[in-house]
Amino acid sequence: MIELQHVCVDFSGAGSSATRAVDDVSLHIKAGEIFGIVGTSGAGKSTLLRTLNALQRPSTGSVTINGTRISDLQGVALRTARQRIGMIFQHFSLMHTRTVAQNVAFSLKAAGWERAKIAPRVAEILDLVGLTDKANRYPVQLSGGQKQRVGIARAIANHPDVLLCDEPTSALDLETSATILALLKEINARLGITIVLITHEMNVIKTICDRVAVMSGGKVVEMGEVFDIFAHPQHAFTRQLVSHTLNLTLPERLKAHLQGTLLKILFIGDSAEQPVLSEVAVKFGVAVNILHGKIEYIGDRALGVLVVQLTAPDSPTAVEAAVAHIRSRTAQVEALHG
Ligand SMILES: Nc1ncnc2c1ncn2[C@@H]1O[C@H](COP(=O)(O)OP(=O)(O)OP(=O)(O)O)[C@@H](O)[C@H]1O
Ligand SMILES: [Mg+2]
Repeated sequence: MIELQHVCVDFSGAGSSATRAVDDVSLHIKAGEIFGIVGTSGAGKSTLLRTLNALQRPSTGSVTINGTRISDLQGVALRTARQRIGMIFQHFSLMHTRTVAQNVAFSLKAAGWERAKIAPRVAEILDLVGLTDKANRYPVQLSGGQKQRVGIARAIANHPDVLLCDEPTSALDLETSATILALLKEINARLGITIVLITHEMNVIKTICDRVAVMSGGKVVEMGEVFDIFAHPQHAFTRQLVSHTLNLTLPERLKAHLQGTLLKILFIGDSAEQPVLSEVAVKFGVAVNILHGKIEYIGDRALGVLVVQLTAPDSPTAVEAAVAHIRSRTAQVEALHG
């Protein structure tokens, strides 16, 4: 649906200095998916996103949406194409002198809606985002989460095919973020709008995206299904990004005083649901003590890590057999000591 081919964006600086903000990015985003782009500040995420509605022209390469090369369009053709693409922003970008309803109505007027159809559509869309009772308020009278709901209402009122989201939850607290992400997910599921979302937080990616591209220094360094990126990050930069999710470390002092064999076990998908640890306890007579652990669900697939201590004072070979069994049934096992 959205196809980027060898997109580069160069900004000329003072004198001979120039920045290549986007460096040879090729992507295919499928209709109906929630596609995330993650990276640290300055990675080129916003610049890349802006090429999708031609707010930014690529220096070289092309952007095609539904078969139209948006990167080549001008004038009326460009304005028409842009009406199929909504956008929301970190700081909402609402018009402060207009009410919530007027903010949403404005985008419909701009899209050439017939006057009589605007009010019913505004009412319908405010109902969808849960703001019916705030229709006549001004943005300054709203919380951050409510402002972003107005942003979303305005962006999707004209039935776009695509919704671009530039850090939509970065200005919100965790709880409000979660409700906005849930709303975006609902819009994607109910209306089938393709969502492209950029963020610097892996947690946002984990919560709603189907696939993700990881950006660093203007390049896409890794791309794939969100679960796979968390379970098997390849690039060093991606490993660092996901490390907060599954990185468990035991205090050194505790480690030094522990007896027996210490294992860090990674469970992926089905293995997280199998009772591997109770099996080894029963089968090999080994005592299993869980010291630290975490299981995350990404989509509906489990990804977990546990640090366990195995002991069998009367039978060292039982521990070895138990370790071998755990290795055969789980994704990755690392011996911490023992
Ligand atoms: N209009 C511009 N003129 C010159 N340089 C720019 C312009 N816009 C962005 N840049 C540069 O391009 C690079 C990428 O910027 P961009 O805003 O795309 O990054 P980002 O990943 O969105 O960062 P953040 O997470 O901070 O929003 C940066 O080095 C930035 O300074
Ligand atoms: Mg940005």
